[in-house]
Amino acid sequence: IGVTFVTADGRECPVRAMSGTSLMEAAVEYGVPGIEADCGGSCACATCHVYVDPEWFGVVGEPSEMENGTLYFGADRRPTSRLSCQVVVTPEMDGMRVTVAPYS
Ligand code: FES
Repeated sequence: IGVTFVTADGRECPVRAMSGTSLMEAAVEYGVPGIEADCGGSCACATCHVYVDPEWFGVVGEPSEMENGTLYFGADRRPTSRLSCQVVVTPEMDGMRVTVAPYS
């Protein structure tokens, strides 16, 4: 499943993600700059924050209440913010673009 991460400085990093894994895992595997994933995917650090392209947000869906709480502390939250460790990759996401959020 092909997903493109756009870094905060505009570089495109295409990755291939396996269905059922988290988007963060693919980003870390490919070394996408800006996805630090300090907490290892437990929804606690917000260093895996991405902005989902608006046309894909319906596919990805809204964050959970716990994720919302963590996003609250993340820098520069936007309406399509998600923590990539909480996004489970599905085949419908093939071709999706997300932008890496700058963080504090
Ligand atoms: Fe820490 Fe996603 S990896 S919140």
